[in-house]
Amino acid sequence: MQHKGTKILETKRLILRPWKENDAEEAFAHWMNDPEVTKYLAWTPHKDVSITRALLKTWEEEGKSPNCYHWALVLKEGNVLIGDLNILDVDDFMEHGEIGYCMGKAWWGKGLMTEALSEVMRYLFEEVGFYRLNGCHAAENLGSSRVMEKCGLLYEGTRRKLMRLPSTGERVDIVERGILREDYFKNA
Ligand SMILES: CC(C)(COP(=O)(O)OP(=O)(O)OC[C@H]1O[C@@H](n2cnc3c(N)ncnc32)[C@H](O)[C@@H]1OP(=O)(O)O)[C@@H](O)C(=O)NCCC(=O)NCCS
Repeated sequence: MQHKGTKILETKRLILRPWKENDAEEAFAHWMNDPEVTKYLAWTPHKDVSITRALLKTWEEEGKSPNCYHWALVLKEGNVLIGDLNILDVDDFMEHGEIGYCMGKAWWGKGLMTEALSEVMRYLFEEVGFYRLNGCHAAENLGSSRVMEKCGLLYEGTRRKLMRLPSTGERVDIVERGILREDYFKNA
């Protein structure tokens, strides 16, 4: 694998680009303050934009590293910041990483995360040389399940009550998914 970092990517409707501290106001207003968005995530909604700003400052710094793959999703129409797509726990020897994403509610259900993830997968498999991408989601998070399914991540098992949702304290099953380089090139 040859690291190339958070290169600017483009799809029909989106620009995927590195994070900037100055994205804070939009990110906060569009999803980081929203309990519906964070329902199945490991973090709770930001109570104040200063929390978002501090986080994005670290993301902007991290984004300069060639082994960081973390994009802000910008809708071309209106130049609106709508979401986040990150590859976590990148491992150089295993040549894998874990997909994480979220987006403002106003833009759900339009195929936008599938569009973004498809392009990120193309970049990671075809240009960077990843061997595998891991994905996981709460079993009841049907939107996320569907995005991964549409992008070719296969079901690999369910870990019972693995996660306790910070939002409610409820314990939920976690579905594990993955796609290998050979799966990707077979489907491409
Ligand atoms: C998960 C998320 C990123 C999906 O983004 P999106 O742009 O709406 O996804 P897409 O439109 O590309 O695809 C969503 C698919 O799920 C389906 N879907 C959404 N909610 C559903 C539900 N409650 N039941 C069944 N299907 C559902 C949609 O119909 C669509 O499938 P289709 O194209 O076959 O009709 C977005 O909902 C989100 O940000 N959620 C909050 C954060 C989150 O949960 N992140 C994932 C953590 S693992």
